[in-house]
Amino acid sequence: MGVAKKVVDVRSCVAEWRRNGLRIAVVPTMGGLHAGHVSLVRAAQVVADRVIVTIFLNPTQFGAHEDLGMYPAERNRDLALLEAEGVDLVFMPTREDIYPPGFATRVVMDDLTDLMCGALRPGHFDGVTQVVTKLFNIVGADVAVFGEKDWQQLQIVRKLVADLNMPVEILGCPTVREPDGLALSTRNGYLSGDARDVARALYRSLSLVAEEIANGVPTELACAQAEDGLRGAGFDSVDYLECRDGETLRLAMAPFKGARVFGAAVLGETRLIDNVAVPV
Ligand code: PAF
Repeated sequence: MGVAKKVVDVRSCVAEWRRNGLRIAVVPTMGGLHAGHVSLVRAAQVVADRVIVTIFLNPTQFGAHEDLGMYPAERNRDLALLEAEGVDLVFMPTREDIYPPGFATRVVMDDLTDLMCGALRPGHFDGVTQVVTKLFNIVGADVAVFGEKDWQQLQIVRKLVADLNMPVEILGCPTVREPDGLALSTRNGYLSGDARDVARALYRSLSLVAEEIANGVPTELACAQAEDGLRGAGFDSVDYLECRDGETLRLAMAPFKGARVFGAAVLGETRLIDNVAVPV
């Protein structure tokens, strides 16, 4: 497995693959890798001849009081895991490589970014669109693979690529879950034993709400009851629990194919997000 730290190195490796007519996939990550990332790598291997994983803990997508400082940075562990999966190249730039002194360009999307997580984390998606644009320009892959757990991010990346005519295909992959349904996330590592027990309620409530909505319970009622249920189960607060169109992210008032239930809730210092389809 190659490890490139500099933009020129990743570019020359990709240029060589291109000369040989190979199809290239990229899996962008911030490290702290788990089985969910492994599933993205495996999906990338199915659709491409060469797979690049980027590891870059992007500071511009974290707010001042968020968890940038505690985000896991065990790079040797991440690299061993990727090597075992047969990844071809890891791109692991420094902050200065991505944001050299004087860097001044932002990539701002008007739509999709100011609701749900965007409303609670101002500027978060500006950081995501900025770094994803840079990573796509640096790597020049044919296909990029993202997880559906971060559904809003996935839709924003799809729109970014469409709006700016970026020549990359976006592949979304299903959320990988623990046996009790908890969606895998790097942030699950912050949960203590008791909090971990409470955390499972998020997926359970979203699934229950999705079923209720499919069975005709008014969306607002189903969502409001589930919010109360999450607080009762031990969550400290619920940022949102809503039924929306999975593509436009507009609020959905009735069940239809493509509607999803989205939730974000806080347990101590940890904010968990998840989403499920309304089964119509
Ligand atoms: O989903 C993530 O890990 C990050 O938001 C991403 C897409 C790698 C951008 O930093």
